Amino acid sequence: MSELKEILKFYGEMGAEFLHLPVSDPRTDLAELNRSILQCRQCRLHESKTHYVPGEGSSRPDILFIGEGPGQTEDQFGRPFIGNAGQLLDKIIQKMGYRREDVFIGNVVKCRPPNNREPLIDEVEACLPFLRRQIELLKPKIIVCLGKVALNNLLGTSHSMGRIRGQLLRFNDIPLIPTYHPSFILHKKEKEEISQAKREVWEDMQKALAVISGQRP
Ligand code: URA
Repeated sequence: MSELKEILKFYGEMGAEFLHLPVSDPRTDLAELNRSILQCRQCRLHESKTHYVPGEGSSRPDILFIGEGPGQTEDQFGRPFIGNAGQLLDKIIQKMGYRREDVFIGNVVKCRPPNNREPLIDEVEACLPFLRRQIELLKPKIIVCLGKVALNNLLGTSHSMGRIRGQLLRFNDIPLIPTYHPSFILHKKEKEEISQAKREVWEDMQKALAVISGQRP
């Protein structure tokens, strides 16, 4: 601070009336990051994809949802979570009192793994710097990891989702809550199992809302 005062004093003595200080705008930085994602050739996934799926939403979101990687519909349109799992995620977002454009939705990998297989270690390693930079720029109040692939790759852990879901964790000082991936619910056959998984996700999202509003769950 004293350094800044010295600098301002110096410019004052020089007769300067205005100082144009560069202010970083997250939208500009995000746009630049998107451009790098759209040119990425760091792993094999760029060869088989149709479109890159960098992620989308508010540049100052309360919530950052992180999924695993684009599926077929996402790959076709270049947008995250717009297929069946996305429709369920949209309902969750709405129930939380947000619109899709109020939050940010991203993925661990930005290109679709062939046949929706899990991304391989080297693919995740190549893509994670993009996600880390997105988190740095977006500064969300909370991160919601959808499924164990998102959680374990981001944190470098090997948790089972059944055990860890709903627990308040942290990524670089940002609160993080893991919950089931929407596809996990969609793949269930029994009505009671579907209801229970939905109940548990809603329980986890209420914890996320409590963190956002400043009340610890
Ligand atoms: N599943 C994901 O993990 N991400 C998407 O974008 C879509 C489906």
